[in-house]
Amino acid sequence: MSGATVVNHPLVQHKLSIMRDKATSTQGFRRLLREISLLLCYEVTRDLPVVLQTIETPICEMQAPTIAGKKLVFASVLRAGNGLLEGMLDLVPSARVAHIGLYRDPETLKPVEYYFKAPEDLNERLVIVVDPMLATANSAIAAVQKLKDRGATNIRFLCLLAAPEGVAKFNESHPDVPVFTASIDEKLNDHGYIVPGLGDAGDRMYGTK
Ligand code: PRP
Ligand code: URA
Repeated sequence: MSGATVVNHPLVQHKLSIMRDKATSTQGFRRLLREISLLLCYEVTRDLPVVLQTIETPICEMQAPTIAGKKLVFASVLRAGNGLLEGMLDLVPSARVAHIGLYRDPETLKPVEYYFKAPEDLNERLVIVVDPMLATANSAIAAVQKLKDRGATNIRFLCLLAAPEGVAKFNESHPDVPVFTASIDEKLNDHGYIVPGLGDAGDRMYGTK
């Protein structure tokens, strides 16, 4: 598996363009991220296996498709991952949730871990890691490694924006983990920010600096 699946739906691209605009308010940014997360969740779960279950409609019995296997796990990379998580839980309310607390040291661009909590049986579930930004990929690589260390074997990574350098590095480190994104932007700048990007996702979501 290499590269990334780009979700090129006009609704996603339209909402993303408004999010990129620096004039968009904190409130607007959060609302749009939640809306986009529904559309991205639809794509990242598109090929989930289904099993047939016997149910009875008011008219007759039928074999009805339902999602097979154990409940999904959504793993949110804090803080900004929570912006995607909220909408995904609207769509898949039964999902279990893991939280991975990481922040990027602004000097070294290396991730610093401060929190981890996940369901016990990660080895039995599909884990979808969510973080809006895949820049250097240092955070995503560390988050996925942590989940693998705790037993996860079936993992997908979902973000809003990716840098080409980040996608390549992530693919190299975790070739078994497919990446889904709304856009692969042009490049990283000297500070490890995605260009043109949208700025700092966490700050724009929460109105911090
Ligand atoms: C942002 C983003 C990713 C990371 C991406 O988080 O949400 O986790 O940077 O950068 P990378 O690919 O170069 O590692 P940040 O560290 O700003 O933390 P925050 O979500 O708490 O604001
Ligand atoms: N983290 C962000 O929030 N934005 C970037 O462009 C890079 C890392």
